[in-house]
Amino acid sequence: MLFSQLITKPLFAIFIAVFLTACSEENTVRDVSQDALQQSILPVLEVYKSPTCHCCSKWITHIEDHGFETKAHNTNDLSDLKAEKSILPRYQSCHTAVSKEGYVFEGHIPAKYIHKFLQEKPEDAIGLAVPAMPIGSPGMEVGPEFQSYDILLLKADGSAEIYARINTQKEQY
Ligand code: CU
Ligand code: CU
Repeated sequence: MLFSQLITKPLFAIFIAVFLTACSEENTVRDVSQDALQQSILPVLEVYKSPTCHCCSKWITHIEDHGFETKAHNTNDLSDLKAEKSILPRYQSCHTAVSKEGYVFEGHIPAKYIHKFLQEKPEDAIGLAVPAMPIGSPGMEVGPEFQSYDILLLKADGSAEIYARINTQKEQY
């Protein structure tokens, strides 16, 4: 009786120690892989903006809050980039975002329409644009003020069609 207690107690302690170590190791591994998984699921947008653009930074916060990861690039040569990406002057805004597939998202587009576009991948489209900077669009909020605007579907031939018409601030989120 005494002998078996002497044997089993330390064995039991070792067993518990091994079990706890294995368990916590497993948790660590699982946490890390879940983080990696989450990161690989979030679509990444490279955002090109001028270093001093305030509304651009606010737009970046908006899309990060709505399921995108971003890599911001500050540049003073935005017009070259827009020309290279075939974004005609009439479609241009402050910043230009580029997806990993090479689609462009010009200006203050609500994140949910970028998700929609990336799911649909419309034929012959190069991306979306909200020309200029409508008051009340994501990153351009000024209290309750709101200016209706169109999100344009940019086509490879330089034409555009209306992808969505935004009439209220609420529709954007
Ligand atoms: Cu702006
Ligand atoms: Cu901007």
